[in-house]
Amino acid sequence: GATPSFDMVLFGGTGDLAMRKLLPALYQAHQSGTLHPAGRIVALGRGALTLDDYLAQVRTQSGPHLKADFSSPVWTAFAARVTYLKLDAAHPADFDALAELLGRGGERVTVCYLATAPSLFAGICAQLARVGLNHPDVRVVLEKPLGHDLDSSDAINAAVAQSFAESQLYRIDHYLGKESVQNLMAMRFGNVLFEPLWRREWVDNVQITIAEDLGVEGRGEFYDKTGALRDMVQNHLLQLLCMVAMEPPASLQADAIRDEKLKVLQALKPFTESDVATRTVRGQYRAGAIDGKPVAGYLQEPDIDPASRTETFVAIKAEVVNWRWAGVPFFLRTGKRLQERLAEIVINFRAVPLSLFGGPVGLQGANRLVIRLQPDESISLHFLAKEPGDGMRLHPTQLDLDFESTAQKRRADAYERLLLDVIRGQLGLFMRRDELTAAWRWVEPILDCWERNGEAPKTYTAGTWGPAASSALLSRDGASWHEEL
Ligand code: BG6
Repeated sequence: GATPSFDMVLFGGTGDLAMRKLLPALYQAHQSGTLHPAGRIVALGRGALTLDDYLAQVRTQSGPHLKADFSSPVWTAFAARVTYLKLDAAHPADFDALAELLGRGGERVTVCYLATAPSLFAGICAQLARVGLNHPDVRVVLEKPLGHDLDSSDAINAAVAQSFAESQLYRIDHYLGKESVQNLMAMRFGNVLFEPLWRREWVDNVQITIAEDLGVEGRGEFYDKTGALRDMVQNHLLQLLCMVAMEPPASLQADAIRDEKLKVLQALKPFTESDVATRTVRGQYRAGAIDGKPVAGYLQEPDIDPASRTETFVAIKAEVVNWRWAGVPFFLRTGKRLQERLAEIVINFRAVPLSLFGGPVGLQGANRLVIRLQPDESISLHFLAKEPGDGMRLHPTQLDLDFESTAQKRRADAYERLLLDVIRGQLGLFMRRDELTAAWRWVEPILDCWERNGEAPKTYTAGTWGPAASSALLSRDGASWHEEL
């Protein structure tokens, strides 16, 4: 059904995220009739733009992501929701103007989406509170990166908490909005089939990969200070790990889900110095080719320090030390300029205890559940079946469920789903403060250790699956990455 009435206030309304993701998501929701007819979008930016200027910018910059016909009545109706207001986060008077524009919501929900540099979050929240825009109908969305380490993330959270209650804060991790991630919950907790096998007795290892073929794409300055561990592992990969490893929650209440995720994060085995040496791999790409086209190496990208030691690839052997998972490796991997864009979760089940049919006992990966998030959304179950014809030989085969072709309904983009959740006040897919802290607490010793040992990352050629050490990390446990099987 439609959302309640709302004002969606976009801080950073002229920025990259607003143009590439937020406005297209709102447009899609508008087009499908999900937005309340009185819902407004208030875009904020530092420039003194007229509404027409702003909409022209949206048409050119969001255009490629919007799939809209700008002469259609649907677009006209969408544009009519939009207001533009000049706001400089350093000018308190601009916040008074914002408060006046919004008025006291009444039946409306006010969503303040902070798509700005996180260094502005504390100041923005304080100003919102000063002008009364922290009343209970106001919700604040905080984009990543929420800090650079445990201390800086604590500092942001503490500052924001001075003005807003935790229940008003929506810390976004857009991976949680992806359809397949929701499907993982549906699969695990809506069926009786998988859950009994979802444990150390039956699972040999779990692999979570988020591979990108893109490089740093004009974000060199940000990326070189950040690296893959902070950019992807601390948030997206750990959130996926939580969805795989968590216990069934008692209900779908936001805190029931978040309590279970928190327990997983707290059960992650902390890294010692020697673990960092043996259980992590850092890589950085050199020139290579993607889809047959030559691409530059990381050190040649714009705004990158030519002597940079920032990692563009990470592989980690993590372990969730609880009753269900102790001893099962969770292999996490992400990187830029890898062979293809691919995000997937692979559950590798144990081998059969004895080979009745000849061939090697315990064929690796014979039983495998592959949940693919990107580029397509699918689930496949790999198993062995009889090879047709004479004799009794087995061969690998699979059951495939392709959500794109089976679902008749349009599937919402991650940002669309999450924005709708905020307007509806559903916190379940957003990170609670303690989750964020737990994730940083686990990641920080790895970062510290890398910094202390000062080793350069291992190199890999753009267009491959990362440094050779990444395969070696698995082979030590007698495992292989899914695509190498
Ligand atoms: C962002 C990272 O959080 O996620 C980017 O900052 C990355 O570096 C992006 O490219 C990947 O998201 P998606 O949805 O395109 O896989």
